[in-house]
Amino acid sequence: MAAEAAAGLAQTLRSGTSSDHRTADGIALFVPSGEPATPFLVQGPFTSAWSGELSVDLRGEYFFHGLFTGHLKVSINDAVVLDADGKSPAWIDSSKVRLNKGANKILTEYSAPKSGEALVRVYWSGKEVPFNPIPVGALSHTANADISSANQLRRGRDLFAELRCSHCHTTQGGMPDLTADAPTFSGIGSRRHSTWLAQWIANPESLRPGSPMPALFHGAETASHSDAIAAFLGSLKAATPLTPSASSTADLIEAGQSLYEKLHCVACHVAPDDAKADPAKISQKQVLAKFKPGALVAFLRKPSEHFAWIGMPDFKLSSDEASQLAAYLESAADKPSERSIPSDEALILKGKSLVQNSGCLNCHTLDLPNTYKAPALAALKAEAWSAGCLATSPAAESTAPRYTLSSADRQALAAFGRTDRSSLTRHTAADFLERQAVSLNCRECHGKFEGFPAWELLGGKLKPEWASRFIGGSESWKPRPWLESRMPAFPTHAAFLGQGLATAHGLPPVTPDDDAPDAELAKVGHKLIGTSGGFACISCHSVGDFGATQVFEAPGINLAHSFERLQPDFYRRWLRNPVSLDPNSKMPAYFDEEGKSALAEVLEGDGPKTIRALWEYIRLGSKMPKPE
Ligand code: HEC
Ligand code: HEC
Ligand code: HEC
Ligand code: HEC
Ligand code: HEC
Repeated sequence: MAAEAAAGLAQTLRSGTSSDHRTADGIALFVPSGEPATPFLVQGPFTSAWSGELSVDLRGEYFFHGLFTGHLKVSINDAVVLDADGKSPAWIDSSKVRLNKGANKILTEYSAPKSGEALVRVYWSGKEVPFNPIPVGALSHTANADISSANQLRRGRDLFAELRCSHCHTTQGGMPDLTADAPTFSGIGSRRHSTWLAQWIANPESLRPGSPMPALFHGAETASHSDAIAAFLGSLKAATPLTPSASSTADLIEAGQSLYEKLHCVACHVAPDDAKADPAKISQKQVLAKFKPGALVAFLRKPSEHFAWIGMPDFKLSSDEASQLAAYLESAADKPSERSIPSDEALILKGKSLVQNSGCLNCHTLDLPNTYKAPALAALKAEAWSAGCLATSPAAESTAPRYTLSSADRQALAAFGRTDRSSLTRHTAADFLERQAVSLNCRECHGKFEGFPAWELLGGKLKPEWASRFIGGSESWKPRPWLESRMPAFPTHAAFLGQGLATAHGLPPVTPDDDAPDAELAKVGHKLIGTSGGFACISCHSVGDFGATQVFEAPGINLAHSFERLQPDFYRRWLRNPVSLDPNSKMPAYFDEEGKSALAEVLEGDGPKTIRALWEYIRLGSKMPKPE
């Protein structure tokens, strides 16, 4: 079989006797002091090597630049071009390197320092490319067996957390997702129809392919057990009843449909009036069967109310918006079944004891003693990972739950079962981001829709503190008010996502203090931003309450927020050449190839100084004086 070319570089990490392999989008990492480089490595000094090919359109001269602690060696076409001990925060430059048109071999070898934080970022520059990280589009490698088996292991570990195996097979934690909850049963009878509950309990997979909830019953008793539990859960009423929503009208439904399109709900769902089924997306056909009157609006307004780790984000809908969306979803939903669940006392009692002894309370919460027993993780022998919960044809008398798993997923879990499983005790934010960005569908919006911020840039651009607040929904300000869509909030996942975006780009999870402010330069920046003798940045950018003057050109972001948002390094590179970072950007370049400013009379046309002056002004944030 011919070896296949894959995007990005092949990365191999080693620490002690452990190793890990992955595909990397670029040459960057940040490992805080005392943390492992990845969950599959023991904590301590480690090495990382990135290898593959770097392709350029034109033959020419380039430089490579490294910012790092520890030791870094970069080789191009087998010749060493940079080999040094790092003195972060100072960049170290390579000698001049000639790159051939087309593919060039690139190998970067990094050794982390014995103690303290490990960091490395490799950028490049040349006639054609300004000083920037090497874009993933220019990097490729040959897929190899080490990466595929490491990916299988990573998939097994991810599934172990997502499917909540450790809620029954208990073990020492560390990986945050091991604490992922399930919807609480408290008050559930006020929110869900009992008939739907019975159907779900009997076979979650039939209503939602890929749900992390396994089937707990099988054989002849499935229907009667599920009915009994549904009767019991149906009897659990909330203290405050829900207000049913106003009756639906054609206008309401139409407004709901248009909002549904604007907010891009299809990133994760199949539109309810779309006949095409997509098993990877969540169905919305069951809303009438599932939600009691008023419960759908309440759910849309706060999806995480009863389930913190829910994958459905919070769009901060107003009550009108939620009613519109609910009316639209209901108008296209399937008719509920007419079967009803009896609610006699004996059935409820039976359901109650089943909930206590069937494993439900290992994942769901309710104030009742749990009498279900399962072996601890340490007791599951490696060779048993095709039995019990992973058996393809389980024994009729087994009390183990049944998951619907593909054979690849079974093999991934089995591969994970053969390890010492200590990776569950380790956590890194970059690993959390890699996993959750997939399961939360971040890239189904970022990179799919025009005008949305590009995924590849987010981590290198934003300070992690701001990113975490924004992803978590605690920033009410909207950076791009001209977009009809909005970023939905993921409150439970936000902190690690924001940190992971930074560390995966070689930036610290906690932003260090900026250089001391310079009031004189800020005055120059103030002038530069305006129209008289400046760059007229304010034709596109607002500054606090001062609105942009020509927003129709290409609206920019309100600069009063940029200091708390932006990594200084990104800010400098962006101003130097916006199009090199975002090929579609309409923001002009104000600096020539040599970096000289277009305003030669200010600061002697010194590019870096001019860029710094604008930053000194921007960093005043909400106190930025009004532009001229
Ligand atoms: C609701 C609790 C529960 C959950 C969740 C659960 N298990 Fe189990 N598992 C059990 C019980 C109980 C047994 C043993 C009883 C039996 O086989 O009859 C078992 C048995 C096993 C066995 C076989 C052990 C042996 O020695 O035969 C393996 C392997 C296993 N589980 C792996 C997993 C994995 C992997 C997951 C997650 C995908 C998982 N389990 C989720 C309850 C659970
Ligand atoms: C980032 C992905 C994502 C986006 C975007 C998203 N959802 Fe969801 N949604 C989910 C997930 C995941 C669930 C399943 C939650 C659960 O029960 O665990 C869900 C569940 C739902 C449900 C309940 C369905 C059921 O049968 O339980 C409704 C209704 C819903 N979403 C409406 C919307 C609407 C309306 C929008 C757009 C405003 C939207 N969603 C956008 C991920 C998303
Ligand atoms: C291994 C963990 C696990 C076990 C064991 C488990 N569940 Fe679940 N359950 C979940 C998760 C996770 C969800 C959310 C479903 C989703 O996101 O697709 C869920 C969803 C549900 C729901 C829907 C709740 C809602 O408000 O939308 C009900 C009802 C439910 N489970 C009942 C049960 C019952 C009854 C049992 C025992 C017979 C049980 N579950 C056992 C994990 C579990
Ligand atoms: C339903 C579509 C959608 C999904 C899903 C989505 N985003 Fe966004 N995101 C947006 C939109 C739209 C914006 C721009 C908001 C604005 O500027 O007002 C945005 C902005 C952002 C920003 C700020 C970028 C900037 O330059 O201002 C970050 C960070 C971000 N998203 C991270 C994420 C992460 C992480 C995920 C997955 C957990 C995610 N997004 C999922 C639509 C989405
Ligand atoms: C023709 C319109 C236009 C002009 C003029 C313009 N910009 Fe921009 N600027 C943009 C656009 C568009 C973006 C990217 C918005 C986005 O991320 O969606 C941007 C982004 C930025 C950002 C990043 C802001 C953030 O918080 O993400 C900064 C800083 C910035 N511009 C500074 C300037 C400065 C300083 C000037 C004048 C020297 C200037 N811009 C002139 C259109 C413009």
